[in-house]
Amino acid sequence: NKGSHRHFMEKEILEQPEVIADALGHYINFIENGAEAVFGIDFAKIPSLAISACGTAYLAGLIGKYWFERYARLPVEIDVASEFRYREIPLSPQSAALFISQSGETADTLASLRYCKQLGLKIGAVVNARESTIAREADVVFPILAGPEIGVASTKAFTCQLAALAALAIHAAKARGTVTEDEVQALVESLAEMPRLMRQVLDSIQPEIELLSRELSKCHHVLYLGRGTNFPLAMEGALKLKEISYIHAEGYAAGELKHGPIALIDENMPVIVIAPHDRFFDKTLSNMQEVAARGGRIILITDGKGAAASKLDTMHTIVLPATDEIIAPMIFSLPIQLLAYHTALFMGTDLDQPRNLAKSVTVE
Ligand code: F6R
Repeated sequence: NKGSHRHFMEKEILEQPEVIADALGHYINFIENGAEAVFGIDFAKIPSLAISACGTAYLAGLIGKYWFERYARLPVEIDVASEFRYREIPLSPQSAALFISQSGETADTLASLRYCKQLGLKIGAVVNARESTIAREADVVFPILAGPEIGVASTKAFTCQLAALAALAIHAAKARGTVTEDEVQALVESLAEMPRLMRQVLDSIQPEIELLSRELSKCHHVLYLGRGTNFPLAMEGALKLKEISYIHAEGYAAGELKHGPIALIDENMPVIVIAPHDRFFDKTLSNMQEVAARGGRIILITDGKGAAASKLDTMHTIVLPATDEIIAPMIFSLPIQLLAYHTALFMGTDLDQPRNLAKSVTVE
């Protein structure tokens, strides 16, 4: 039931603060009290972690990789499931593997799971549908607790996948002794702040998103840029826009700009830059200057400090509240999702049922 909402996608975007709060209740308890037995995977002992998934779930996994490597010093091998299963990756049977899937039925993800199982790895499923095949075949299930997601374009499942992965990475870091007790506490406190910050963002940015979306709906191409965890988020932004508005979009690592995509820059292709004022900001700023110098129009999504430091003549700057680095991807997902949603509204596409797409892809 979509209630008073125009589409399930709108409802699912707007309910994220409440949904994330539920998921966090579960995972913060896990971090604080989670014995090994609760997890089934002994993060303290595994030499590495493999992650495989498709589409948006894969992009959540890519962000997870940054966290597992940075906080838990755990090397992560990740690929889209349709490549992962055929690559003959030299995986250690002492390792564990995570399969991320909203539906729990995606054919290639399931095949990757079975491949790893056969090799003897411990299998974790990060799923929304707990009664699914992927959940059943895993050794341990990490539910994302997003509730039913009806819109074909994944929104709340993505942020809940991120919340679960962030919590797992913090748990792993704690188990491996790669962060101090104080650092764990600070990370948990950041996670706990998410619902309030999400609400604040959703309550404030809709009017400017609508104005911007009207502009985007007139474009044929959009480029998204980001660094660090904002690089996978840039790809997610591009995926969301293309799948529901049918506007061609690409997500790139900001540092790759001059290795090719800079050739495309002109006034007709907006460049959406996801850049909170973090340790990468100055580097991304110089990429923005390169775009501006070539007549490109920039939509900057940043925080107050970033907006003050950019001093660029942007097409528009969306200013979000300042966040700790670990929760930035979840908070910055919101304008990305809303931009896609409102642009598609202007285009008049079938938002909950975009052409050629299915909610659950059970063929290879
Ligand atoms: C994009 C989207 C798809 C899915 C992908 C995996 O919005 O929904 O890219 O993320 O098909 O589906 P699940 O998570 O069900 O395995």
